[in-house]
Amino acid sequence: LRLAVLVSGSGTNLQALLDADAPPFEVVVVGADRDGTGGVERAGARGIPTFVCRVPDFDTREDWDAALARLLAEHGPDLVVSAGFMKVLGPEVLDTLRVVNTHPALLPSFPGAHGVRDALAHGVRVTGCTCHWVDAGVDTGPIIDQRAVRVEDDDDVVSLHERIKVQERAMLVEVLSRLAADRSWR
Ligand code: GRF
Repeated sequence: LRLAVLVSGSGTNLQALLDADAPPFEVVVVGADRDGTGGVERAGARGIPTFVCRVPDFDTREDWDAALARLLAEHGPDLVVSAGFMKVLGPEVLDTLRVVNTHPALLPSFPGAHGVRDALAHGVRVTGCTCHWVDAGVDTGPIIDQRAVRVEDDDDVVSLHERIKVQERAMLVEVLSRLAADRSWR
């Protein structure tokens, strides 16, 4: 299964895909919405093609979305994985490519850019992560899988997010392996 991975941050979810043992998928390109991401660095270290596609470089959001769609399509991915990608994808991408996202909370609870912080602030005792199909909304598409993570009394956003990421990385490899084995979603 040919994967295009979109990142905005450190890229530890991407790293889990790169480190998977004989996976039924391969990362063919990594794209970011900003310069200096760990994700692009990690891909570059493996000789994987990368690109940066920044919203401010385009006159309109639609132009950015169209450029992103073209950059992704160039590499013929079967599936796009949004792993910590912090932009909402538009119709140019979503009408042509299937996209899976991973979110560090148990959707539909705590969607958006601060899922870990919001869950902690709400005082939940259990949170976790969600893998879902991306639709036009923010963290709203059909859920594929979820993992639960207990919140510890001494947790702060960083410690809780790190523990969620352990589950998130395992969940992502497992989900993508399942999607590679059964391609009825295509
Ligand atoms: C992940 O927890 C992702 O769900 C969230 O941001 C984090 C990205 O981490 N949106 P990384 O860049 O994969 O290390």
